[in-house]
Amino acid sequence: MSIPQTLIDPVLTGFAADVADGLTQPGQRTLPCKYLYDEVGSRLFEAICALPEYGLTAADIRLLRQHADAIAATMEAPMGAGHGGGAGVLVAELGSGSARKTRPMLEALCRRAPVLYLPIEISPWALARSQRELADVPGLEIAPQPFEYLAGLAAATARRATPRWRQHPMLVLFLGSTLGNFAPAEARTLLRALRRQLRPGDALLLGVDLVKPKAQLLAAYDDPAGVTAAFNLNLLARINRELGADFDLRGWQHRVRFRHHRIEMHLRSRREQIVRLEAAAAPLHFRRGETIWTESSHKFRLADLDALAAASGFQPHRQWVDSIWPFAENLWLSA
Ligand code: AVJ
Repeated sequence: MSIPQTLIDPVLTGFAADVADGLTQPGQRTLPCKYLYDEVGSRLFEAICALPEYGLTAADIRLLRQHADAIAATMEAPMGAGHGGGAGVLVAELGSGSARKTRPMLEALCRRAPVLYLPIEISPWALARSQRELADVPGLEIAPQPFEYLAGLAAATARRATPRWRQHPMLVLFLGSTLGNFAPAEARTLLRALRRQLRPGDALLLGVDLVKPKAQLLAAYDDPAGVTAAFNLNLLARINRELGADFDLRGWQHRVRFRHHRIEMHLRSRREQIVRLEAAAAPLHFRRGETIWTESSHKFRLADLDALAAASGFQPHRQWVDSIWPFAENLWLSA
């Protein structure tokens, strides 16, 4: 027998351990949503962003286009030209994906000063794609950061140890309601940790999806064309491909619930079944109707955002809400 790939590749080892943990825990089984984004998953997510039922991305893009100049003006470096190596702004983006919606923001900033863009993204496929996407923006330097959020932000802020970027403010982008993947307490912890890595003059642009009628949310996460279902089911296909499991995808169904101000995405077992997973000690037994919880998308109220800023040490500066799809762009200052 060959040596399992999971013993050789450290990235696969982390994936295998997380999958084994999530699928063998007592009670509700879970899988971390970050694993949804392999190449197939990233492509399916881009298709989701274009769905008419999923108004989130379109709203984010509209707001970023409309307010790119106002946001760029906020970053006018107080210690800009004349210090160190001239004017400039650093832009670090958490979970940058293909970075398609970031373009107008970067262009607005580049019209004022040179920009060092630091996309932080664990999907190598998406990271390569964002580099191609933005290669022609004049005055933009791109330094990809293939790390998780906080490690990536540490690597990004470390750029200010160099004379060229020492004086310059950093704008952190956390768009697309990615923060919604975290439970409220985790979101506060993450924002606090993020805030501690910043200094006065830095800012955070936080894009979050707002609470809206349940039927509208359910349609956004369970679209009639089945793109979101394919995105969710691909996680099992990925586990088969990369970890040598034998999930039968026909035995599973995409399920969505809305409760406690969050959308929950699950995979529901259509029948009693047994699945083999290299990384698990014994075969996994699933009951008919039991689910694997694969993602949460928390939805915010405007009052939640003020509380979140206060709890994490940010100063709310501006806020823009889309008039078609309730979504809020929040510009917070770090001091
Ligand atoms: C990328 C996490 C913001 O939660 O809306 C879309 C992912 N999942 N449809 C979201 C997603 C199902 C998306 N985020």
